[in-house]
Amino acid sequence: MHDPQVDQNGYDQLRSWLSQRCGITYPDHKKELLRQRLMRVVRSFDCGDLNRLAVDVIRSERHEVQLAVMHAASTNHTFFFREREVLDNFTNMILPDLQHREEIRIWSAAASTGDEAYTIGILIAETLGQGALAKTRILGTDISAPVVDRAEMGVYAKRQFDQTPPDILARYFTPMGIEQFQVKPEIRATCTFRRMNLKATPYPFKNPFQVVFCRNILYYFDRADQVATLNAVYEVTEPGGWLVTSVTEPIRDLGSKWKQVEPGIYRREG
Ligand SMILES: C[S@@+](CC[C@H](N)C(=O)[O-])C[C@H]1O[C@@H](n2cnc3c(N)ncnc32)[C@H](O)[C@@H]1O
Repeated sequence: MHDPQVDQNGYDQLRSWLSQRCGITYPDHKKELLRQRLMRVVRSFDCGDLNRLAVDVIRSERHEVQLAVMHAASTNHTFFFREREVLDNFTNMILPDLQHREEIRIWSAAASTGDEAYTIGILIAETLGQGALAKTRILGTDISAPVVDRAEMGVYAKRQFDQTPPDILARYFTPMGIEQFQVKPEIRATCTFRRMNLKATPYPFKNPFQVVFCRNILYYFDRADQVATLNAVYEVTEPGGWLVTSVTEPIRDLGSKWKQVEPGIYRREG
């Protein structure tokens, strides 16, 4: 039997570690969700209870357990061609600005399983052509190691394509296995995936990006981390460069230097 008080202590410690280390916050009404997610890690490492898990993560700093907790606590839900309205603005307003560049550099921060990064590659191929695709570098990063591995594999179940036009699915994916599809090599070649914590600022990039996608991640951060992330992204975006968020994300009220152009589209001053 678990002592509920011990579990509560472990829960509280893990919750604040997730907030401080990863910027992932869980409000009180989501307590049961986080508890269930953490208990999955308890079971897979056979560490008994949440208090013991907290010791492994915080005091013993067991890296593989820390990674498992980060992965369990993060919501990885994503899919191809998410939020068409924002993608249309990216295609119509931003891509024309990039087509004559020697190199096109785009970052999908919080990329999850890579659906967003590959969607960007497909939009570039469709809008600017194969020549532009060949000079495009898309970096996808995420805090969770398993999703980064899956992004690299580039194999997806059919449900990830509910919002994908059928002709795009046919052109850029190879059917494989049971209702699975692999991204074609020319799109995969433009995308690289790495594990990275957005809370670890400043970001370690030598060359600035022209566009950064930072979608459906800021919700999970508290206000201070939202501001810090937006400012750090600003620093690695070239002057006149762009930030793409979800239309529902609360950027305007955060007092960052980004200037809104359209819902979900922001620009750094030139
Ligand atoms: C809901 S997904 C968003 C995926 C994609 N951007 C989209 O809009 O469909 C959020 C991702 O953020 C990642 N994440 C959470 N905290 C993070 C952090 N501190 N640094 C980097 N990635 C983080 C999660 O692992 C998850 O894969």
